[in-house]
Amino acid sequence: MAEQMAPSTSKAPRRILVTNALPYANGPIHIGHLLGYIQADIWVRFQRLIGNECHFVCADDAHGTPIMLKAQQLGIAPEVMIEQMNAAHQQDFADFAVSFDNYHSTHSPENKELATLIYKRLRAAGYIHNRVIEQLYDPEKEMFLPDRFVKGTCPDCGAEDQYGDNCDVCGATYSPTDLKNPRSAVSGAVPELRESEHYFFDLPAFGDMLQAWTTSGSLQSEMANKLNEWFEQGLQQWDISRDKPYFGFEIPDAPGKYFYVWLDAPIGYMSSFKNYCEKHGDLEFNDFWNVDSDAEVYHFIGKDIIYFHSLFWPAMLKGADFRQPTSVWAHGFITVNGTKMSKSKGTFIMARTYLEHLDPEYLRYYFATKLSSRIDDLDLNLTDFAQRVNSDLVGKVVNIASRCAGFISKKHAGMLSEHIAEPEMLAEFQAAGESIAAAYEQREFGKAMREIMKLADRANEYIAVQEPWQLAKQEGKEQEVQNVCSMGIHLFRLLMIYLTPVVPKLSADAQLFLNDSFSWESAQITLTGHKINKFKALMQRVPTEKIESMLEASKDSSAANTVPAEQPAAPAAVSSNESAASEFEPIASEIEFDDFAKVDLRVAKIVNAEHVEGADKLIKLTLDIGTEQRQVFAGIKSAYNPADLIGQLTVMVANLKPRKMRFGMSEGMVLAAGPGGKEIYILNPHNGAQPGQRVM
Ligand code: MSP
Ligand code: ZN
Repeated sequence: MAEQMAPSTSKAPRRILVTNALPYANGPIHIGHLLGYIQADIWVRFQRLIGNECHFVCADDAHGTPIMLKAQQLGIAPEVMIEQMNAAHQQDFADFAVSFDNYHSTHSPENKELATLIYKRLRAAGYIHNRVIEQLYDPEKEMFLPDRFVKGTCPDCGAEDQYGDNCDVCGATYSPTDLKNPRSAVSGAVPELRESEHYFFDLPAFGDMLQAWTTSGSLQSEMANKLNEWFEQGLQQWDISRDKPYFGFEIPDAPGKYFYVWLDAPIGYMSSFKNYCEKHGDLEFNDFWNVDSDAEVYHFIGKDIIYFHSLFWPAMLKGADFRQPTSVWAHGFITVNGTKMSKSKGTFIMARTYLEHLDPEYLRYYFATKLSSRIDDLDLNLTDFAQRVNSDLVGKVVNIASRCAGFISKKHAGMLSEHIAEPEMLAEFQAAGESIAAAYEQREFGKAMREIMKLADRANEYIAVQEPWQLAKQEGKEQEVQNVCSMGIHLFRLLMIYLTPVVPKLSADAQLFLNDSFSWESAQITLTGHKINKFKALMQRVPTEKIESMLEASKDSSAANTVPAEQPAAPAAVSSNESAASEFEPIASEIEFDDFAKVDLRVAKIVNAEHVEGADKLIKLTLDIGTEQRQVFAGIKSAYNPADLIGQLTVMVANLKPRKMRFGMSEGMVLAAGPGGKEIYILNPHNGAQPGQRVM
């Protein structure tokens, strides 16, 4: 299906609607959120560049208990809070060049109308059932409590202060009524069980339809697997109502009952598009949402919300007689410097904080280099980030223009040569556009970036061999200088066309410099005999001190106190109880003894240790384990001096699969612990231990 569709500008343009998950209106955008928005934006910009009709809409997700409580905390009406947040979100997205055509809110007339319509159609078709359920109720606050708003003692292990749905200590999952000594996280009151009538959506009725959708070939294989697991567990009736007080839409003919936020949230995709159509008379809502629509609809989402998008959402649409999405594309989560974003480490970085320190295009490019069509998590390693951007964008791409432009403007009045110095190379660069386009289409952005940078390497090689700066010193070589530098500019131009979806601002500046206007097709023409403008520096190297100051500014900023609504995360009312213990990483999930027994730990003698040229963190160790010597790169440079390590004993993982690193093979791993920086401690067995001894 769409995955295999080859991008082509010769065919009739495709009609595409793209959305990204709607951010909650109770907190600012952070760099974790940005991964998805940037991924979707790159794809959208690519579609537009190749000439497809591609609309990109989003909205704030404005309903639900956490938003209601957060507004109460702030002492303002939820309507006021969500409006302020909406403006802040839009500004953040605009500054990261996320090119939404429309940004709306789920608390809007269009959304109310569509949620009501969909609900009524589902009800008329017999997919809504009522049932009385028992739920914990806060008698002081006079409200029913969502699971995450009840805390108490774990019924399994006895750990105190655990949430109502699962225990952070032993991992048990349970229902809030199982907790011992339950308390309301909102008021501290002892909750009581109360009955209430709830409305349920008959998800199991859509089992066959969902199975067919899963095997339609348009879903990521990991997602299809996940869905199959859920099918095996059996689909459940979905509770779509909440009792007042609730910030949301009242259910028709059910006073005091509200739609659960996750019912009207995805409808927000449709209602933002509807709002957009109302502003643009030539767009027809039904063309995109009717069952017989031939437009394509894609939802980009994070992996935590697959369930909602791949089960409830297509089923709701089907039941209400709307088309289903062409596909739902999930991405992984970002970690920063290898661990979960953390307030104490300063790695819980808000979009705004980033913007105050660094160029947004750095992050767009870095994300692009790491993104694929898979659902893998992605690490933002800030050292690697600076290196990648400096070496690729500044060192390779922009460098070509800066090496060539001066000669053209000073010696040739800005005129590019009529002659093409290396027609074959130019043709290869043009032909490469096809596989780069295919990579963009398939969301293999990392692959696209690698291909582009391979071309950039070749362009730089060409310039280095031709040495126009030497030619320029020689008598009678003016024409040659113009030819070589024009060739460099042509290659630079092609690279910039290919990079346009990722770094739109850099691309716009390059277009100004080249006196040109890019489309994907325009790679097939060459600007011979064309006048270009004076070159101005297009991009600065990443100022590393700014990375430091950004982390500093992110430490414990109150803005980090953002809470996803009704999701596995702490509710607003309790999230400020961060204890000093958060300096330490939580213990990872339990493993079986057998898993651990696979690790072959050996006493190792450090027979040599040296700095690694070009590496900030690594020390190259030569380890003697009795039977052989191993080379291991250990990230301990910030804590140890190589000379001090020689002769010491340590412990290594001897059966770790060798890993090829930029500096050579690493044949194992040394055990160390500590938060980082100066505080890294390698394991240091007492003298008397013998190299090669197994540690158990
Ligand atoms: N409001 C819901 C989505 C409703 S869509 C009908 C929601 N909001 S959220 O603010 O919590 O998340 C918005 C998007 O950001 C989601 O796609 C979520 O997966 C993504 N991410 C949030 N934190 C993230 C990371 N650390 N890394 C990558 N994506 C992350 O869920
Ligand atoms: Zn427990």
